[in-house]
Amino acid sequence: MFKKLIVLVLALAMTVTLCACGGKENKKEATGINYKVLVNKLHKLPANWEKELKTTTFTNTVGDKVEVENKAYKAYLKLKEELKKDKIYVDLDSARRSVADQKRIMKDFTKQYGADYAKKTVAEPGYSEHHTGLALDLYLIIDGKDITENEDMVKYTGTWAQIHNKLAKYGFILRYLRDKEQITGYGYEPWHIRYIDDPKAAKEIMKKGETFENYLGAAKDTNPKIDLGKSKLWKKDELKEATVTIKCQFASWDGCELESITYVGDKCNTPKNIKWLNSLNKNGKYKKIAEFKMNFKTPKKGWGTLEPNKNYKDYEWWLAQNKEGDWEVVTMGY
Ligand code: DAL
Ligand code: ZN
Repeated sequence: MFKKLIVLVLALAMTVTLCACGGKENKKEATGINYKVLVNKLHKLPANWEKELKTTTFTNTVGDKVEVENKAYKAYLKLKEELKKDKIYVDLDSARRSVADQKRIMKDFTKQYGADYAKKTVAEPGYSEHHTGLALDLYLIIDGKDITENEDMVKYTGTWAQIHNKLAKYGFILRYLRDKEQITGYGYEPWHIRYIDDPKAAKEIMKKGETFENYLGAAKDTNPKIDLGKSKLWKKDELKEATVTIKCQFASWDGCELESITYVGDKCNTPKNIKWLNSLNKNGKYKKIAEFKMNFKTPKKGWGTLEPNKNYKDYEWWLAQNKEGDWEVVTMGY
């Protein structure tokens, strides 16, 4: 088995190491802005995005500068005007954020709320929809008072419902829906709206109450069947993180559909296997191994050295943690 694994490792190594977390949608983007770009935990901001982005900056009611993509800003102003007629007053807390901004937010949140909460609520720098300039965080102005804190804002459920009803007309959707964390990667955020420049599609999405990932046919990538099995070596949270690493790499396998990831068990964790894994990687100082199996389907045109239109079952992934405690895919294949 090891020999076969090595062959596949060699065949896939370049692709795998070079395109960690590169997105399917994003890759197609050569020039211009795709208003339906998908940026989430598995799909990074396209490399050319910053060059193509045209923005407007204004100062909000609390005195902060807010930067928004031009077309999204015009649509937002119309939405705001319409809401005013219903005596609903909103402003923008944050819209376009640079990777450096996101790093700062992650740091602040980690300090204030701890790493677990920060990871759940703040996107990794490079993977935030806010980088696009098309994601807008609203805040409410109630009786002339700015309501900007998340925990205060969530209380105004009726107001949010009225706001959400008007989004589609101006080409916006609600991005982080209730009970859809498995797909979007984040909990409910009534304030985070996303401009998609297509009121008809927005209406369809909002009416169905579906996620943007579903609409784009990219939900499976983020939501395969996960079975973490039993382990005496790893905590459930560690194994969960490992599956995210696998999903990130899988996201660059163009057109492949992920069905399931299963933790096989602790039995591969023998001294012989660990020695072998360390021999594959010059800097390898792995102490333990985690073995997963994946089921997936290849597209009609195939992918890499994989056969076209085939259901691959029990495709193996061996992962280990590096010195920093981050997961690395050490090898994969049959
Ligand atoms: N709060 C959203 C998920 C972000 O940080 O992009
Ligand atoms: Zn947001």
